[in-house]
Amino acid sequence: MEWNESYNIGIEVIDHQHRQILDYINTLEQVKNTGKRDKIKEIQDDLIDYTQSHFSFEENLLQQVNYQYLPPHRGIHELFVKRLNDYRLRFEQGESIEKDLYRLLSKWLINHIQHDDQDYVDAVRDNMLSYLRTQEKKKGKGWFARFFS
Ligand SMILES: [Fe+2]
Repeated sequence: MEWNESYNIGIEVIDHQHRQILDYINTLEQVKNTGKRDKIKEIQDDLIDYTQSHFSFEENLLQQVNYQYLPPHRGIHELFVKRLNDYRLRFEQGESIEKDLYRLLSKWLINHIQHDDQDYVDAVRDNMLSYLRTQEKKKGKGWFARFFS
């Protein structure tokens, strides 16, 4: 899977994390047919851990900007993490789920980025702008005060 410009949502830190997840998915793609269970397990664990911390980061950001659809967005993340952990469990019990996991991840991630994540971009941008404006006003006040106090 190659990163496509249309996957960028325009928030750099998030785009960077999404690309990182895609790299992990690609690594899984490379090892999924090798039968090297140790290696597969290692990548699977890294991928799940990283995805979970990315979700936490994203949810934190959305909370800070008071994103009104955070609860359902969090719900989507939680459900997906549950599915990933179900796969992990099945793998640990000896099943070969790596191909299914790869398929799920590659489809799910792009779909999530292009729809669910795209929906919060405006909210984050608007909030960042008003935050920056407040900072400017504060700075402006300081500058103003220097001349008139
Ligand atoms: Fe998300």
